[in-house]
Amino acid sequence: MSDKLLELKDICKSYRDGSGKRVILDKVSLTVGRGEFAAIVGPSGSGKSTFLSVAGLLLTPDSGNVLIGGKDVTDASKSERTMIRRRQLGFIFQSHNLVPYLTTADQLAIVQEKSMREKVKIRELLSELEIDDCRDKFPSMMSGGEKQRTAIARAFINDPDVILADEPTASLDAERGRLAVEMIRNEVRKRNKAAVMVTHDTRVLDLVDVVYRIDGGRLIPEAKSGEI
Ligand SMILES: Nc1ncnc2c1ncn2[C@@H]1O[C@H](COP(=O)(O)OP(=O)(O)O)[C@@H](O)[C@H]1O
Ligand SMILES: [Mg+2]
Repeated sequence: MSDKLLELKDICKSYRDGSGKRVILDKVSLTVGRGEFAAIVGPSGSGKSTFLSVAGLLLTPDSGNVLIGGKDVTDASKSERTMIRRRQLGFIFQSHNLVPYLTTADQLAIVQEKSMREKVKIRELLSELEIDDCRDKFPSMMSGGEKQRTAIARAFINDPDVILADEPTASLDAERGRLAVEMIRNEVRKRNKAAVMVTHDTRVLDLVDVVYRIDGGRLIPEAKSGEI
């Protein structure tokens, strides 16, 4: 398989508003390799979620190509997209989106593909994320940080190639937000995955490998703090 686990090429996306159209993504390209954690920063309304939705095959671009694991999936059918999302992509959202009546172990078990049971062990993942003691707890019994780490574990349970995180620190305080991003980074490195996090939280950018700014529909590489 290609080492470029995620590739977006010349993605354009506009929304119609009243009389005309508003360009949100204007020929945006991004490649994320194995073991790489990329961040995209930009203010609210700049198109971060739109970008992530295109990468996650939840939204079809007006033009451009999306490749997952080296395969062009731009024209995949609806059922193929669903399959790719389930097997090759892991999503982490601003809110943990846990099921209220399931324990942590069951949150993972219910989404785990049968074929993955040997490959990724729930116990091992919970231990790596330091939430072993949450195994039998319901979301109402956990802190915000523990819930988000459960959601991170869930994103990794099917051994996806690509992790997509939309503002994963937004509902957490600074310390817990940082810990959550550290956990994503550790899993990306350990499991050799590609990850993209969109965020307006600039305090966690030292934890990622590469930073881009989304501005005026364009994606611009940004020097990380301490670098020129
Ligand atoms: N389905 C839609 N229809 C029309 N406009 C939309 C739609 N989704 C998002 N937008 C607009 O596109 C812009 C970018 O949105 P979004 O990608 O959610 O930005 P961000 O995640 O950076 O806050 C915003 O101005 C938003 O109002
Ligand atoms: Mg958003």
